[in-house]
Amino acid sequence: MKRPLVLHHTRQLFVLLAGLLVAPALASAAPIPSRGATWAQACAACHGPDGQSQGAIPALDSLSPEDFRAAMQAFRTEERQGTVMNYIAKGLSETDVEAVVAYFARVQAR
Ligand code: HEC
Repeated sequence: MKRPLVLHHTRQLFVLLAGLLVAPALASAAPIPSRGATWAQACAACHGPDGQSQGAIPALDSLSPEDFRAAMQAFRTEERQGTVMNYIAKGLSETDVEAVVAYFARVQAR
């Protein structure tokens, strides 16, 4: 028996459209963990996926939440002088820092 091709594609289109409608609603109600995951992706460009750096840039997956938070704070206040982290840390709000610290704490717990 031949598959009803048109009907099949219509269903795929419907699923796609439903997804497009739901996605923005989810994004605007983004809870803190997903905000942390979003930031972690930006950090991954230099610190490696989930902060598991393989190169010269320090790894983030071995920092305790306390040290992580303290480092971000020190970069923000310029108490600690880095190359790029002073700029980056200033771009994150307190809420962003807490979200990213919580994200990496969960990565370590895995
Ligand atoms: C452009 C590359 C780059 C990006 C992007 C980046 N970092 Fe960094 N990070 C560095 C470098 C380089 C250092 C070493 C300090 C310095 O030179 O600024 C560092 C150091 C750190 C440290 C201190 C680590 C330690 O062991 O003391 C923390 C914490 C940190 N980064 C967090 C983050 C977070 C969180 C993000 C994402 C929001 C991020 N970084 C994004 C390059 C980057």
